[in-house]
Amino acid sequence: MAHILLRHRDIKDIYKLDVYQANGGYGGLKKALAMTPAEVVDVVKASGLRGRGGAGFPTGIKWGFIPKGADEVYILINTDESETGTFKDRELSENNPHQIIEGAIIAAYAVGAKKIYNYFRGEFMDAGYAMEEAVQECYANGLLGENILGTDFSCDFHCHYGAGAYICGEETALIKSLEGERGQPWSKPPFPAIEGLYSKPTVVNNTETLSNVPLILVNGAEWYTSMGTEKSPGVKIVCMSGHVEKPGNYEVPLGTTYRELIEMAGGMRGGKAFKALLPSGGSGPVITADSLDAPLTYEGLTEYGSVMGSASVIVMDETTDMVWAALKMIRFFSHESCGKCTPCREGTFWMRKMLQRIYDGQGTEADIQVLGSVARQMKGRTLCALGEFAVNPALSTIHHFMDEYKAKVSGNGQMVMVETAVTAVD
Ligand SMILES: Cc1cc2nc3c(=O)[nH]c(=O)nc-3n(C[C@H](O)[C@H](O)[C@H](O)COP(=O)(O)O)c2cc1C
Ligand code: SF4
Repeated sequence: MAHILLRHRDIKDIYKLDVYQANGGYGGLKKALAMTPAEVVDVVKASGLRGRGGAGFPTGIKWGFIPKGADEVYILINTDESETGTFKDRELSENNPHQIIEGAIIAAYAVGAKKIYNYFRGEFMDAGYAMEEAVQECYANGLLGENILGTDFSCDFHCHYGAGAYICGEETALIKSLEGERGQPWSKPPFPAIEGLYSKPTVVNNTETLSNVPLILVNGAEWYTSMGTEKSPGVKIVCMSGHVEKPGNYEVPLGTTYRELIEMAGGMRGGKAFKALLPSGGSGPVITADSLDAPLTYEGLTEYGSVMGSASVIVMDETTDMVWAALKMIRFFSHESCGKCTPCREGTFWMRKMLQRIYDGQGTEADIQVLGSVARQMKGRTLCALGEFAVNPALSTIHHFMDEYKAKVSGNGQMVMVETAVTAVD
């Protein structure tokens, strides 16, 4: 099947405007500009497109929340992409930037925005440069700026680089960072659709979400719903990493199973046995072999206690020490916690300390209990979802791999991982 999002793999040089246009590029925008903004929102609603940034909120409904006739509205493209194991938005931005720009202009037209900001993770210089070049091509060819394609719709596009903070992918922290303030979330409400950037109505959409939009406009909502499942229509890029033969991005219809994804990625590396996988980087609870036939959808892992999230699938084989894996994830969260609320700031710190002690073979059974208790006390008590994510590595590995924890505290836990000498972050 030809790619929809990863079209650059089928069409050489599609990052150039002339090649993109020769392959139907900006046809979605032309179609949108001939419709009313409300009609455009309706098409996106009917397509069932859901946010690819992790939460899966329906995109058309989000656009519909923007108050009609607001004097100033913004579109923010979220290219912060700092989730562990995620590298799809980078590939899209570096290789197929016009599809993202086109999706964002369509979104701007639909909600009455005159300014688009693309917030890049600080390290994504190549992605940003590719995008900036594409933006210049658009200005030179009447696709951005005043009177786009001869209509009375005008819109500007700016690229902004963060400083590589995971929390700045959270939409309210992203807005604060873009405003030049410390990148920390606020407690919602107010939601960005009502009070976002500079306190004005704002749509925050993930890069991959927006790159679906031009083709939905060109081919229609029914075309999109013919792929995927009823509640999770369309296609998704899955970032496969870890112990598979061919790590990388794979574009698949939603509903593909995790077992099929591992096969697509060449199977388990070196023919080793599968042990577990993280379906949403470190943010989603770990799943085991009994969940491999679950479909990759927003609901597919619910009965297994996990989530699809942004679909960054980290596969682990039989050689993986699961206490080590949990420690590695909690180090990340403890480092990335913005420190604004106490349960997350203190909880991630103490979970990391306890996991380190258990991993080093100096823990006791009581440490495992306290670790679980701290994680459970954090749940539902943090200001943003980072704190919610941070408890998953500990709770899910304790649930599935208690034997490994017990072996560690009884002095029998073999340190099977070679990469143990990671410096503590504080
Ligand atoms: C800690 C944290 C990090 C996040 N990082 C990202 C990110 O890098 N990219 C992204 O699109 N969404 C990220 N999100 C989700 C955003 O807050 C927001 O839901 C998303 O950008 C909305 O776009 P969508 O509806 O198109 O998915 C993150 C959320 C949290 C809590
Ligand atoms: S949960 Fe963590 S990252 Fe989110 S506001 Fe609280 S301290 Fe900051």
